[in-house]
Amino acid sequence: MHISQRSRPGNWYHFAVASGRQRGRFITFEGLDGCGKSTHLEKLKAVLRDEGIETVTTREPGGTEVGEKVRAVLLNSRTRGLAPLAELALMFASRAQQIAEVIEPALQAGKWVLCDRFTDSSEAYQGGGRQLGSEAVLTMHRVLCGQTQPDLTILMDTDVAASVARARRRNKVATDNDEADENRFEQENREFFTRVHEAYVAIARREPQRVYVVDARRAIDVVHADIVKEVRRKLLK
Ligand code: TMP
Repeated sequence: MHISQRSRPGNWYHFAVASGRQRGRFITFEGLDGCGKSTHLEKLKAVLRDEGIETVTTREPGGTEVGEKVRAVLLNSRTRGLAPLAELALMFASRAQQIAEVIEPALQAGKWVLCDRFTDSSEAYQGGGRQLGSEAVLTMHRVLCGQTQPDLTILMDTDVAASVARARRRNKVATDNDEADENRFEQENREFFTRVHEAYVAIARREPQRVYVVDARRAIDVVHADIVKEVRRKLLK
């Protein structure tokens, strides 16, 4: 079932939208660590700017002052013994804050929001990777995210081993340069990331009208062209 079909009708977001100007569009980027999401998010932002569309870009976990603190707890490799359900709750704590502070105000002001990860990441990593299952994640989404649902999700499909190796290299360079240690997930094994990948594939099968799967193993410009084509087809008609 589509996540938004399960959401409570008539919450304050809907009334605000009904009474205001045209709501912006909400686009999320998803995929395994090291799949190239951030690069493509920035490239799409530039295209939308040329179309005269005002965008807000953000990421999860994080994106707000509180959310960035939560991100540090979640991603730092010194965080040990975090229970899977606590991990899931922290992901949603960051998300709820981000919806209230960044995403909904921007959408209601008519801006487009480009977000690096959203609830699909929780379903893939905590639901699939940590084996909590989809139901717990979708229930939390219903309670904490209300009607805030992406209009379009770009799922960057990559090879599991290559993606994770790339993310590990990137994070090692960051840590060596005294930047934030964000290695906790990259330490997971191949089986974990295979489950994450399978969960993403299942989400895309369940919601083909929202999730656009792009083969991200190809050259950056080729992948970018496909993403722009889909955004035009779906949102810029
Ligand atoms: P990233 O910012 O480099 O994509 O890293 C964020 C990490 O957090 C990544 O390993 C995926 C993980 N994550 C989850 O496990 N669940 C979530 O809900 C989100 C948003 C991220």
